[in-house]
Amino acid sequence: MNVDDIRTVGILGGGVMGAGIAMTFAQAGYQVIVRDISEEALARTRQRMLEGRFGWRRGVELGRFTAEQVEEFLGRVRLTTDLADLAQVDLVIEAIPEDEELKKRVWAEVDRVVKPEAIFATNTSGFAISSLNQAVSPERRKRFLGMHWFSPANIMKLVELVYTEETSPETLAAMEELCRRIGKTSIRVKDAPGTYGFVANRIFFAAVAEARKIVEAGIAAPEDVDTAMKLGFNWPSGPLEMFRGARSGWE
Ligand SMILES: NC(=O)c1ccc[n+]([C@@H]2O[C@H](COP(=O)([O-])OP(=O)(O)OC[C@H]3O[C@@H](n4cnc5c(N)ncnc54)[C@H](O)[C@@H]3O)[C@@H](O)[C@H]2O)c1
Repeated sequence: MNVDDIRTVGILGGGVMGAGIAMTFAQAGYQVIVRDISEEALARTRQRMLEGRFGWRRGVELGRFTAEQVEEFLGRVRLTTDLADLAQVDLVIEAIPEDEELKKRVWAEVDRVVKPEAIFATNTSGFAISSLNQAVSPERRKRFLGMHWFSPANIMKLVELVYTEETSPETLAAMEELCRRIGKTSIRVKDAPGTYGFVANRIFFAAVAEARKIVEAGIAAPEDVDTAMKLGFNWPSGPLEMFRGARSGWE
C-alpha cells in the first residue's frame, strides 16, 4: 500500500483514543469510519469529538477552526457498529481496550473482512506486536505494525511506529509518511517481546517509579519532586502531577 493510496481510515473503538485519532484524520482530509460495539458508544464518540475537553467546539472557541471547518471534519467521519463497513478501508487502526486476547480476537475477525492490501495498525500501549500479529494471516503480517499515539491523540505530536521482523519496509515507510501528512512526528521502535511498553512510556514510568520511591522514603515532598523536574530539566509537568490530572494540551 502506497501512502497516496491511503484515503479511508477505519478505526476500531471510538473511545478516548479512537475519537482523537478519528479527529486527527478527519482534520487532515481523510475519510474516517469508526466502528464501535453499540450505538451508545458511538454517541459518546461523537460527543467526545464535538464537546470533549479537546473537542472541536473548544477548538472553535480558541480560534483554531471555524464552525464551517468543524462541519467538514464531521462530514468525513462515519460511525458504525457493522464491521462489514470497513471492508474497503486502506488502513485500520485498532484502539479497543488493552486486553490481548480481545485484540487478537478482533484482529482475526477484521482480517477476514478487510481487503488484503490494507495496512493494520494497533494502538496497544505495550503488548508485543509480534504476538498480536499472530491473529492475522502471514501475508497480512507484512502490513501489520504498532502505531502508538499519545493522549489527547488529536493534540500530542508523537506517534511511535513499532515494527516486527515481518513488517515490510514499504509498510513502515508509508506509515512514516502518513504520520508526517497528518501533522505527527513518528519515531521507529523495534518490537521487543518480553517487555511492556515502547519508548516514551517506558522512560516516563521509570521516572514516575523513582519519583514515588523518593517521596515514600521521605526524601522530598511530591510538589518538590515535580518542581525539581520542571525547573531542573524543563519538563512541562512533573512526574507525579501527571497523575493529579494536569496534562499538556490546548492550553
Ligand atoms: N488512554 C490513553 O492515554 C492511551 C494512550 C495510548 C494508547 N492507549 C491504548 O489505546 C487503546 C484504547 O484505549 P482507550 O483509552 O481509548 O480505551 P476506551 O475504553 O476509552 O475505548 C475503547 C473503546 O473500544 C470499544 N470496543 C470494545 N470492544 C470493541 C470491538 N470489538 N470493536 C470495536 N470497538 C470495541 C469500547 O466500546 C470503547 O468505546 C488501548 O489499547 C490503550 O492501551 C491508550
